[in-house]
Amino acid sequence: MEKTHLYGVIGDPIHHSLSPFMHQLAYAELEMSNHRYLPFHVRAERLVEAVRGMAALGIQGFNATIPHKENLVPLMDELDSFVQVIGAVNTVKIDPTGRMTGYNTDAYGFITNLREIFSESLRDLDILVLGAGGAARGVLAGLLQEGANRIVVMNRTLNRAEALVERLRVHFPDQPVTPQAWTNRLPACRLLINTTSLGMGDDDGSVPDLRDLVADALVYDIVYAPPVTPLLAVARGRGLRVENGLGMLIHQGARAFEIWTGRVMPVAKVRKGLKERMGVAELGG
Ligand code: ATR
Repeated sequence: MEKTHLYGVIGDPIHHSLSPFMHQLAYAELEMSNHRYLPFHVRAERLVEAVRGMAALGIQGFNATIPHKENLVPLMDELDSFVQVIGAVNTVKIDPTGRMTGYNTDAYGFITNLREIFSESLRDLDILVLGAGGAARGVLAGLLQEGANRIVVMNRTLNRAEALVERLRVHFPDQPVTPQAWTNRLPACRLLINTTSLGMGDDDGSVPDLRDLVADALVYDIVYAPPVTPLLAVARGRGLRVENGLGMLIHQGARAFEIWTGRVMPVAKVRKGLKERMGVAELGG
């Protein structure tokens, strides 16, 4: 019998992840019937064990989501050069000897989707990024690579935002990013990007006040489950443009798929399948 090629995604929580559905759909489309992609619920304190187990089991690659992206960096044998800029890993390739290479496909996924829906130059555009975790790092590196030079990063834990800004300054010295403490009334901006898990849990009903955003602002939430997050619901209520994280999910997944299998993910078919699965035709992706 032909060898089964195993992949997966680790996170806490993980039940919401559409990555398994997405990759399985792509395998089916491309008739890669000996490929499987599974969700693994891994808590932060068991990350090292889980990663070792992946190699021992012969798993060939995995994705990582909240809260593992930064903690994976020191566990890798090799890092793609872009990971060294971002400091977070969302895609791991494991070779047959168990050697692991860390990649980050979030920046590519985010920018590819943003460029599908937002054509303006990012230079001299007021951009506000919520959060300073692993996902924020990918988003910020992508924005900076695209020439953004007026970014504010707001995080609940201010020193985490400050540390991230310091790190980015080394790689993008001419494009200042300003750290800011969390405020419930967000400052004026044209592009608001939420990278926090705000709205994913049951514990956090409070959405920041969006009244100071400019009238044609785009509010982008990298969360895609639920498809209309509390933040997007409030933004829609104010008549702002909204986008959820489905498009970013697809494009970051497509890049990971290519890294692992050398094949091109059928993005249009995957997008259609994901939208059907989520029951939302009108929003996201
Ligand atoms: P990921 O790797 O996916 O980015 P992470 O590194 O755990 O996950 O980062 C989660 C981000 O969501 C952080 O910016 C976190 O803020 P803190 O640094 O203060 O912990 C943010 N976050 C999580 N829950 C939040 C909430 N209820 N309100 C605001 N921010 C929240």
